[in-house]
Amino acid sequence: MKNPFYYGGAVSSVHFCNRIDEIKELKADINSGLNTLIYAPRRFGKTSFVLKTMDELNDQKVKYVFLDLMYLSTLDEFINKYFNVLAKSLEEPTDKIVNFFKSVLGIRPNINVNFDANGVPSFSLALNNEDKTKSLEEVLNIPLAFAKEGQKIVVIFDEFQEIANFDLEAKMRSVIQHHSDKVSYIFMGSKKSLLHAMFLDKNRPFYKSVKHFKIKEIRKESWSEFISSKFKATKKEIDSHYIDKIFELTKGFPYYTQQFAYELWNQSEDKVDDVIFAKTLKIIIEREEDLFSVEWDNLTPNQKKALKIALEKDGKSLYDEQYLAKYQIKSASFQTALNGLVQKNITDRNSEGYYFADPLFEFWCNR
Ligand SMILES: Nc1ncnc2c1ncn2[C@@H]1O[C@H](COP(=O)(O)OP(=O)(O)OP(=O)(O)O)[C@@H](O)[C@H]1O
Ligand SMILES: [Mg+2]
Repeated sequence: MKNPFYYGGAVSSVHFCNRIDEIKELKADINSGLNTLIYAPRRFGKTSFVLKTMDELNDQKVKYVFLDLMYLSTLDEFINKYFNVLAKSLEEPTDKIVNFFKSVLGIRPNINVNFDANGVPSFSLALNNEDKTKSLEEVLNIPLAFAKEGQKIVVIFDEFQEIANFDLEAKMRSVIQHHSDKVSYIFMGSKKSLLHAMFLDKNRPFYKSVKHFKIKEIRKESWSEFISSKFKATKKEIDSHYIDKIFELTKGFPYYTQQFAYELWNQSEDKVDDVIFAKTLKIIIEREEDLFSVEWDNLTPNQKKALKIALEKDGKSLYDEQYLAKYQIKSASFQTALNGLVQKNITDRNSEGYYFADPLFEFWCNR
């Protein structure tokens, strides 16, 4: 029988749990043409959430384009990849697409079309230095051109903080501010400190230009229902206290919760028991071990001390003379180390104090 759980890439339909309120809210924002910033840690379900929302909007004839900036390294690459996803979103025959850009947009440089082994086209522009700025502007304005043709469009940039690398921030902001409610932009990313700097620093072009959209861990009741019903449907059993135990470890973090459920299901013949649970935990920790060690090795000695203090004090009232003395760290260095941990996305803070961004890394460190 097929495992009813899944972890890895984005999930949809049967593998998707809850987020009902968030989907409703994002839909409303898109319909009003708001631009949003969606920040969440790695593997938190950003892509799944946004694509699920788009799926539901599709009924209302809204198109979307999705561009992940993570692996782009030059401005040319950005222009071409963006142009390509926009062209493809037209879902028209190749010659029609080329004609559309030539007539409606007057894109000046030659449009190149390459076909892969399966005959799937990809589009790019022959860029030269003289008219590169012009081409960039034209490409950035394509969504507006679509909107003028009556097509509602949502542009999703994943790992958006990366645009700072191609010196594009000011240009992009100046172009898209004229798209106002005709095009919705969703900026996503997992590097909180970089995104914050970008959107909350008065001197940066995107300062206060978006709604900050929060997605939270998925609630325990939703996971309980999700996990137990899938066990039941596949004729296996899981007692609710094991679901509580999963939740204690993963804190509702989507990737790990699915991973746990997946492995538990795999390990159990018909019923989860203590032995199976312990074995599953061991498997999962072993699998993540290498990554966690690298993460630990990448910390400075003071950051390691700060992390230990944060663990021992559960993230609260950290400036404790006794602990600072125990780990032989001065208050000022401790402060620097804590900031460094936030910058490295190892910890984050809320009104109650500091907490680990990754619940399993916390568990591993604790052990
Ligand atoms: N709503 C959800 N319901 C159930 N599982 C989910 C949900 N969202 C995410 N997951 C789990 O988390 C995994 C990662 O999800 P996704 O790729 O959407 O996260 P992400 O934040 O975009 O990750 P990345 O930082 O790698 O881009 C999925 O494979 C799935 O196991
Ligand atoms: Mg993603």
